[in-house]
Formats: sequence, C-alpha cells, structure tokens
Amino acid sequence: MGDTAPAKERDGGDAEEPAARNSIAAMARCYQGFDPAVYLQYNYTAPRADFGRADSIVPWKLACLHEAFAEGDVKGETLVDVGSGPTLYQVLSGCEVFGRVVLTDFLEVNRRELRRWLAAEEGGFDWTPYLQHVCRLEGRGPSAWREKAARLRSVVSEVLPIDVHRPCPLAPGSLPASGADCLVSSFCLESVSPDLGSFTQALRHVTSLVRPGGHVLLIGALGETYYMAGRDVRVPVVPLDEATLCGSLKASGLELLRLCIYTLPADMRVGVDDVSGIFFIKARKPQLGGGGD
Ligand SMILES: C[S@@+](CC[C@H](N)C(=O)[O-])C[C@H]1O[C@@H](n2cnc3c(N)ncnc32)[C@H](O)[C@@H]1O
Repeated sequence: MGDTAPAKERDGGDAEEPAARNSIAAMARCYQGFDPAVYLQYNYTAPRADFGRADSIVPWKLACLHEAFAEGDVKGETLVDVGSGPTLYQVLSGCEVFGRVVLTDFLEVNRRELRRWLAAEEGGFDWTPYLQHVCRLEGRGPSAWREKAARLRSVVSEVLPIDVHRPCPLAPGSLPASGADCLVSSFCLESVSPDLGSFTQALRHVTSLVRPGGHVLLIGALGETYYMAGRDVRVPVVPLDEATLCGSLKASGLELLRLCIYTLPADMRVGVDDVSGIFFIKARKPQLGGGGD
C-alpha cells in the first residue's frame, strides 16, 4: 500500500468514477517528487517556525493543539496521525495523553524520515526547539524537552503506510477494532485530493478509523491552490473555505466542536505556496446512539 498504488474499487465501499480515479492517480504520481528536506525547510524553519513570535505559523498550530489536549475531553489509549509526512510537531501534545501513537504516511521517504528521528539517528531534522516550545506551553520549562522526546519515542508504536483514498486507509488490524480514540491530521487531505468531492470522501474514509465518541483534530490550508513539495514539485491543493469545510465535516458525520482560523501575515507568504489562512478544527464522531461520551 502507498507510494504509487491509486485507490481502486478492490476495497469495496464507495467505488469511484474512472475520471476521479485518474485524478487521484495523477496526485499519487505528483507525490513521487516529494522531497522531505525541502518541505521541512520551506515550512518548518523561520519565518514560519519562529518561536519568538506568537503570530508565526508553527507557534499558532502548536498552541491550538496544546489547548485541544489540555481541555481533558480528548482521551483514550490510541492516537492515529494521518499523513504525518516527515513531521512530528502535530503529536507533541497528544503524546503526553495517549499511550499509543500511530504515525502514518503514503510515502516511504517520509516514513523513513520519521523512523530516523525515532531511532535517534544523526542527520535528521532537529525538533528540539519544537519540543522546548511545547514544554513551555505545558508549563514544564524548556529543559524538560529531553523527557518529552523520550516520551514520544516510547509511545510511537508504528509508522505505517496509508492511503486516504481507500475506504479502509490502513491495513486491517492496524488499529483497535472499535477505532482510534483520537485522529490528528495536518495539511494532508486537501493537499492529496484532486477536488472537493474526493476531499470529502477522504475525510469520510479517515473518520472510519475513529471510534464512536472519539475526537478528530484537523489542521489545514485555506484558499490554497498549490504548494511546493520539492524544488520543482508543484502539488495542486483543493482550495477550502469555512463553508466548504463545514459541509465536508457534516457529510462525514462529524460534530464540529471548535473552528479557529489564522490569517497569514504578509511576511509568512514566502512563495512556497499560495495559502491565505490556516484552520484548526476540533470535532467529534458521535456515539452510535447519539449520546455524549
Ligand atoms: C502537505 S504534506 C503534510 C505533512 C505533515 N502532516 C505536515 O503537517 O506538514 C501531505 C502529506 O500527505 C501524504 N500523502 C500523499 N498522498 C497521500 C494519500 N493518498 N494518503 C495519505 N497521505 C498521503 C504525503 O506523503 C505528505 O506527507
């Protein structure tokens, strides 16, 4: 699974039209040029990751995630991160709450990058300032970052292949039968889907990975039509706005708990994409009987 195989009808469930399948296959081909080092440099260094500025993109995202986990209602044993890419910032708060964290990505190059950090190998991206920043948010002081790194390394149980265009995005048995207690996904669904229909369908697919009553935390791009995934690799993105997002959540059966929006300051528009804003969504998959958890 992953890397080149486009979604097909073999999994059963929602069969796609041939045209939709072709455009999903074209997205998969586009991703063969994804360069983890370039992507990290474009998006996860200053100015987008300037920890001295509250209006920098990364501190905003980390604050949203911190708040969502600090509220106490997002809990359980298993957290799954969908389309992790080569990044770990999205699980730095959740790793303190969940005893098992499953990372996933479509591409082996990204899974390898994650495993490199998990194995504490030399030469990977330095997540230290991120770990320190989240420790500060948790009131622990930046020197606790080594404990957080050790915690993350101990709770990540797997780095798995995934394809959100399949009705069953993960191999059977990857998660508990009832589903994960929490799903996190950042900048994945809109940047791997050829159009709004397939974005909504992908959201429905990943929602099936969550247990009834579990939570879904989504971060993503607003108004974006492309991003650079390598020096010359331009990936098309589904441009989302608040209304389309809410429509897709509803169509996926998710209950919206909170939607926060960040508008990019002019100096965050650094030419590696045309994103105008970022959303953070906290949502919940209703209980089967429609009650609370
Ligand atoms: C824009 S990156 C986001 C990476 C990371 N989550 C972040 O916050 O920066 C999109 C990710 O989606 C992955 N991807 C591409 N096609 C996918 C698919 N069909 N299913 C799941 N993930 C996919 C890519 O490999 C890439 O890592």
